[in-house]
Amino acid sequence: MIGVGVIGTGALGSSIARSLAGGQVPGVELTAIAGRSRSHRLDALAREWECQATADPLSLADLGANVVVEAAGAEAAREYALPLLGAGCDVVLMSTGALADADFVARLKQVATAASRRIYLPSGSIAGVDGLLSAMESEVHSVRVTTRKHPNALVGAPHLVESATDLSKLDAPLVVFEGNAREAVAGFPSNLNVALTLATAIGDADRVQVRIIADPAATFTSHRIEVSAASGQMTVEMSNLPSATNPRSSWLAALSAVATIRRIASPLWIG
Ligand SMILES: NC(=O)c1ccc[n+]([C@@H]2O[C@H](COP(=O)([O-])OP(=O)(O)OC[C@H]3O[C@@H](n4cnc5c(N)ncnc54)[C@H](O)[C@@H]3O)[C@@H](O)[C@H]2O)c1
Repeated sequence: MIGVGVIGTGALGSSIARSLAGGQVPGVELTAIAGRSRSHRLDALAREWECQATADPLSLADLGANVVVEAAGAEAAREYALPLLGAGCDVVLMSTGALADADFVARLKQVATAASRRIYLPSGSIAGVDGLLSAMESEVHSVRVTTRKHPNALVGAPHLVESATDLSKLDAPLVVFEGNAREAVAGFPSNLNVALTLATAIGDADRVQVRIIADPAATFTSHRIEVSAASGQMTVEMSNLPSATNPRSSWLAALSAVATIRRIASPLWIG
């Protein structure tokens, strides 16, 4: 039986934990959930899901987790991933925005190798990472991602705050950012996981072009990924339902973590 611990009980973490607690993945059990503090809510969720609760994510290994899912933000990813790998856990990282720091990525690989552990980056809100990785075996010329979101999903982004961009009265689509993934990190930390997953796949955040469009008519969050490579062209279009509790995150992102855990537990690896 594979024991899974989940850090963060927000939109993604609670969806992932609920699926595992419900026995959705055979051979896997939810052992513990970790929050910022030992709140009534955290304890109530742990009772509902029949698992342990902790305010110390680093204790998840001692609480029986072989695999820890980080669904708590880039800061938590930076703080907990390395020690958890060192403590013998595989780590599933949802906050791939943390991977904009090349030194951190190098350190993750180093510690995981030394501890014979793995770091998993689920495909999150997108598809096509498998095709991009295959194309990397030829030569990738360019990668572009265009994300279209309702303005509500962009509220509070540092880039908009600093440029005093008010999207509340927007009545037509507006391109609010255009640049590479590295430039976009600081401006849209909660919207950049997709770009950083692609950047990590090709090993270069400067080579992923990012365009973000605020669209008041958008009911879905959409991503269009365009890859040009020696092996051919690839275009992938996604239209994702936002998560019920966080308009910034797509439901599919939580599902991709559960699918990753299913792969970890399965003898059959597809894709
Ligand atoms: N890879 C992808 O494609 C993808 C897609 C969507 C979201 N994400 C990322 O996944 C992460 C989770 O997204 P979400 O929608 O669930 O966010 P959320 O804000 O709904 O939930 C985050 C939860 O983490 C908790 N938390 C924060 N710091 C913590 C800490 N140090 N220890 C324990 N808990 C902590 C918060 O209290 C909150 O409950 C975010 O970083 C988001 O950007 C990735």
